[in-house]
Amino acid sequence: MPSDDFELETLAVRAGIHRSQFNEHSEALFLTSSFVFESAAQAAARFSGALPGNIYARFTNPTVTSFEERLAALEGAQQCVATASGMSAILSCVMGLLSAGDHIVASRSIFGSTVQLLNNILRKFGVDTTFVSLGDVSAWEAAMRPNTKLLFVETPSNPLTEVGDLRSLAALAHRTGAWLAVDNCFCTPILQRPLDLGADIVIHSATKYLDGQGRVLGGAVLGRRELMEGVFGFLRTAGPTLSAFNAWVILKGLETLKLRMEAHSHNALTLASWLEAHPKVGRVYYPGLASHPQHALAMAQQRSGGGIVSFEVKGGKDAAWRVVDQTQMISITANLGDTKTTITHPATTTHGRISQEQRDAAGVTDGLLRVAVGLEAVGDIIADLERGLD
Ligand SMILES: Cc1ncc(COP(=O)(O)O)c(C=O)c1O
Repeated sequence: MPSDDFELETLAVRAGIHRSQFNEHSEALFLTSSFVFESAAQAAARFSGALPGNIYARFTNPTVTSFEERLAALEGAQQCVATASGMSAILSCVMGLLSAGDHIVASRSIFGSTVQLLNNILRKFGVDTTFVSLGDVSAWEAAMRPNTKLLFVETPSNPLTEVGDLRSLAALAHRTGAWLAVDNCFCTPILQRPLDLGADIVIHSATKYLDGQGRVLGGAVLGRRELMEGVFGFLRTAGPTLSAFNAWVILKGLETLKLRMEAHSHNALTLASWLEAHPKVGRVYYPGLASHPQHALAMAQQRSGGGIVSFEVKGGKDAAWRVVDQTQMISITANLGDTKTTITHPATTTHGRISQEQRDAAGVTDGLLRVAVGLEAVGDIIADLERGLD
């Protein structure tokens, strides 16, 4: 299905469908670890690459391929490589494309496990990372070295919803032949398409909005064919592959992605506006609010603010924990992108294992709470938070 000819909502339900001999309407789930060849000659041709087709599910599986094609169509990417989780997508991207001696410049405001991966694991293999402030393009420029191969950014960031200027960062990367990789987990292609803004690579934790119902782990790396060949080369050898079952679940999630993202954004904007007026709340972080320092940039590169709202409870950690503990409906869990609203105290959970110094630099204070706004009635979400704030 040629993706240029269709709107996003059509691609979300129609792209990547290859019907089997049974002509099933809904996408089939191929639970098989290997594929049978018709002859020794066909096996040899498949293994040599002369004949395309499935060999073994660590390499390819038709259900996973459907998911990859659908997400590629939505992101406007030539190719998608599906992975077992968001973290394995980031790992596969770096391991597939970089070598010892290469350098990464990354935003300081990225997911805690990504910081750990870059700092504690990849450094051991000779890939060094410099962390800079997301919004300060001159800091990115100053951090670039002759061996800088990758700029890594999450926008809006987790949990402070800081916005990175993707066009400027892409231009900066391309000046020296580096690549810009964007973790597009918070927006999904419905709200933001980084490749259209000049990025080279898009990364997803499909565990979040792409599945959208908190059921399975998954991830993806997307971009030009020649780059994805490197990522796929790492994946098929090292094995952090997306399972067929998880791919099938996420394929179903993609079908409602547009409706869900619009509803998440609507609820989040209503909640953020309410929080902003509450006397026990300090700063509210939401790109859709006019008071967000990068509101204009966010609205220039995103269709709406997305579903994540963070806010400072006056009174520090004790006051923030009281709000969490007084909730009766909202789930106290670190995941996000679910139909069910979730609440997290980042300083003691998602960002608990990085140093206080790194937390301070990232602006993750003790009073900060992150709400991943779900699809319940927004009045019920507000009422659940109001109890603890009052
Ligand atoms: C922005 C972002 N990127 C990546 C990840 C990692 O994804 P996963 O948990 O699927 O490995 C997360 C997880 O919360 C995230 O919030």
